[in-house]
Amino acid sequence: MKFLIVLAVATATVAFPLASEEAIEVQTAWNAVKDNQADMLYAVFKDYPEIQDKFPAFASQDLEAIKNSEAFTSHAKRIFGQLSSIFDQIGVDSNEEEIKASLERIGETHRNRNATKEDFGKFRNALTKYVASRVTWNENLAAAWNKTFDGIFEIIFSKLAE
Ligand code: HEM
Repeated sequence: MKFLIVLAVATATVAFPLASEEAIEVQTAWNAVKDNQADMLYAVFKDYPEIQDKFPAFASQDLEAIKNSEAFTSHAKRIFGQLSSIFDQIGVDSNEEEIKASLERIGETHRNRNATKEDFGKFRNALTKYVASRVTWNENLAAAWNKTFDGIFEIIFSKLAE
């Protein structure tokens, strides 16, 4: 009996898959901003210059001068394109394994890039602020958004160093 209770608690902490209504809330908000990739990367770097400094192509450069460059836009498209493909898959039980595998890969590649849990937390803060100021943000959306990021980060963090 004790074992079953432990198992139930452990299962409940896995945030994926989301309920489909929660996923739709997140996807609707994301769809409103997902094409602003360079603008979102700019928002992250503006709030956290220390994250910009971890990108070899942009470290120590003047953000205002690089924000419209081809290199900046193509980096932004790769990063937010990957996030978009994860957001597209949430809310469907049968996608669970594929989501997990993609997130583990992000954790592994970013571990090699010296990205920390704290960096990911900052990235999340800046992105959430960006989205919340551009869509109708309410309690339900905030809860679904946070649940999504908690789930995403739990898997990425399992592969990252401290
Ligand atoms: C959920 C959040 C994130 C996603 C989905 C993401 C995704 C990506 C993708 C798709 C790439 C390029 C393709 C690749 O080589 O893997 C990339 C590159 C990179 N990411 Fe992230 N990333 C995220 C957060 C972060 C954070 C918080 C940092 C902070 C240090 C970071 C640092 C880097 C660096 C340094 C590169 C290499 C850029 C280069 O090629 O010069 N990423 N990321």
